[in-house]
Amino acid sequence: GAPVQADVSKLEPGQRMTVEWRGRPVWIINRTPEMIERTESIDTARLADPNSDVPQQPSYVTNMLRSIKQDIGVLIGICTHLGCSPLYRPEPDAEGVGVDNWPGGFFCPCHGSRFDLAGRVFTNVPAPTNLEVPPYRFESDDIIIVG
Ligand code: FES
Repeated sequence: GAPVQADVSKLEPGQRMTVEWRGRPVWIINRTPEMIERTESIDTARLADPNSDVPQQPSYVTNMLRSIKQDIGVLIGICTHLGCSPLYRPEPDAEGVGVDNWPGGFFCPCHGSRFDLAGRVFTNVPAPTNLEVPPYRFESDDIIIVG
């Protein structure tokens, strides 16, 4: 599959957009400073692989937020359990995610897997690994090339 281009110039803080790459949805989220703070302050004991030791991202994506830029997250939007599409639940008071102290992230309605705003999987859910980060790069401040 050919690389795809995503223009994030109109992606508002806190919002998500989706592009398709190789038949799969790629989510791009614009994390606010507050969302970044919430993600960075998660008790890592709640996460199955907080440092992404299982390589679910390209080698050049090395920070805790699993992204090239802190604010812009790029993730394959497919649950690593059985492939359902997790819901975007970025607010700390989101209902229905089934856990107290929700730091914001993604919730898979199929079997209840939870991921944070960096795509890191929580413990005690069926999904075995963090969400995948596809290969990508910034062609300019606003243009991302996925693939
Ligand atoms: Fe997402 Fe099973 S497919 S929890």
